[in-house]
Amino acid sequence: MCGIVGYVGFRAARVVLFNALKRMEYRGYDSVGMAVLKDDVIQLSKRRGYVDSLHVDFEGTVGIAHTRWATHGKPDDRNAHPFTDCRGDFAIVHNGIIENYSALRKMLAGAGHEFVSDTDSEVIAHLLEEHYDGDFKDAFFKMVSELRGSFAIVAVHRGERRIMGAKNESPLVVGIGDHENFVASDIPAFLDYTNRVISLSDGEICEITEDRVKVYDFDGHPVAKKVQFIDWSVEDAERGGFEHFMLKEIYEQPRALEETLHNLQSREVKLPGRTEKISFVACGTSYHASLFGKYMVERYLGIPAETHYGSEYRYRDKVRENPLVVLITQSGETADTLASARIARRRNFRTIAITNVLGSSITNYVDAVFFTSAGPEIGVAATKTFTTQMIALHYLILETALAWRRISRTVYDRSMAALRDVPHMVDRVLEIDDRIMGLAQKLAKKHDMYYIARGMSYPVALEGALKMKEISYLHAEAYPAGELKHGPLALIDEDVPVIAVVLKDKTYEKMLSNLREVSARGAYVIAISTEEEVGDYADSLLILPESIPETGVYPATVLLQLLAYHTARVLGREIDKPKNLAKSVTVE
Ligand code: G6P
Repeated sequence: MCGIVGYVGFRAARVVLFNALKRMEYRGYDSVGMAVLKDDVIQLSKRRGYVDSLHVDFEGTVGIAHTRWATHGKPDDRNAHPFTDCRGDFAIVHNGIIENYSALRKMLAGAGHEFVSDTDSEVIAHLLEEHYDGDFKDAFFKMVSELRGSFAIVAVHRGERRIMGAKNESPLVVGIGDHENFVASDIPAFLDYTNRVISLSDGEICEITEDRVKVYDFDGHPVAKKVQFIDWSVEDAERGGFEHFMLKEIYEQPRALEETLHNLQSREVKLPGRTEKISFVACGTSYHASLFGKYMVERYLGIPAETHYGSEYRYRDKVRENPLVVLITQSGETADTLASARIARRRNFRTIAITNVLGSSITNYVDAVFFTSAGPEIGVAATKTFTTQMIALHYLILETALAWRRISRTVYDRSMAALRDVPHMVDRVLEIDDRIMGLAQKLAKKHDMYYIARGMSYPVALEGALKMKEISYLHAEAYPAGELKHGPLALIDEDVPVIAVVLKDKTYEKMLSNLREVSARGAYVIAISTEEEVGDYADSLLILPESIPETGVYPATVLLQLLAYHTARVLGREIDKPKNLAKSVTVE
């Protein structure tokens, strides 16, 4: 998620902007850049790399800066922000996605504008140039009226001590100082200088000088805004008021899911036609997403699919096969997954990656890449990157099933409609956070617990147990419910709670019998289900929004994330940085 900032005042802009960029580092980024106005000149520096690698000695007290999280165009010096127009009169920074950028770019190139990057953002600078007729503000309004998509934009014009900003579906806030003003993606960027803030709403434009902030709607009508006083510390503000990044990221899921679907829909997405078998390869949470993918492939494509841990696949003996290898890795940097990609290539298998990071290493090792749009994830325990992997697989498989004529248009339309409803369903389960806290109190007193499920819910149970282990340090184990009788049932008693995901699929009745089995051994049973009736078989029932089983897995996952989170919180664990674990494991 890019971070943008602008400053106009009396201090050295490079210092204010540098500090603001440091404060926004937590958002995750791959490139950095700054533009500072000196008299009639825009001084510009940008590069791939970290904020500390940006050495500038620009003089001037007006400027803008950016940390980039690549979405269009790989992370390199050329694609870093700020961008200028052909003459270097305007500089802009942008966060979001300009959906109609390719049409705009074609139009601008036709009018003689020269582009230097692969980004969607660069069109903004050229649009300003195109519309400029002696009035920066007027050109800015005209530029914004041509954009479709999500954006937060900040722009400056050479020779003017004025910053223009626009917000639509990407964050932008204004900081009010004394003879200085700020604008940024989030409050921590300027909290060292001021705690007086104006939050912009979607569809608003701000005009900022050192002594004045004016806000308008996109049609140019003035909007009266309230100034809020912020009493958070910088650290609180980075977490957007949430106690932990993990909780913030759990709550970001409706948006992340929606963006992932939206971005996948903007291109042709399907698996190659000659595929006879799919081998999924992944590690950790991504492995659980791949297991969900296996169930989906077998159900909708009717071809065999198998799942492998990266650490096993890389040492697997050669067998007679010619699979499509799908590697899932949110970071794109996990050593075992990268090694597996190399092995698959060496064996001449076709390879596809699903990752959350544009320009990550895995993208160099595979034939095709599909991206999730979860934004950066800071909490070590994966949450939004998992559900976005699931939805990306889900979408990919449904598109492929239609293209391969494995499902009818009616089934496709029905399934897609259900999939598009997933972000709302997730939103609704976030509302029962309070109930989950009560259950977490109970679980925090135990040492061992079982998670059970069948079929497509089984990966959800595995992921729920992994979350619990990772952050609460309690022993949690997931089992396919039908396997309990072959061993773990011996361990079940009143000290071992059982958490069950019970969706109304072909295993529903069997799951009810499994609940009876564990209840009979004294286990406290927490069931997660769409069906009220399951309450008769459990001590506690967390009810899911009405859904088909294939989409019920999403809210069920989120409930289990919250259950793990609150249990770890009761136990006072280091939730965002659990002991012995790393966010990205780049060594074997
Ligand atoms: C580490 C992280 C896990 C993650 C796994 C795979 O173990 O702690 O949360 O699931 O790596 O990461 P990847 O980036 O390949 O999805």
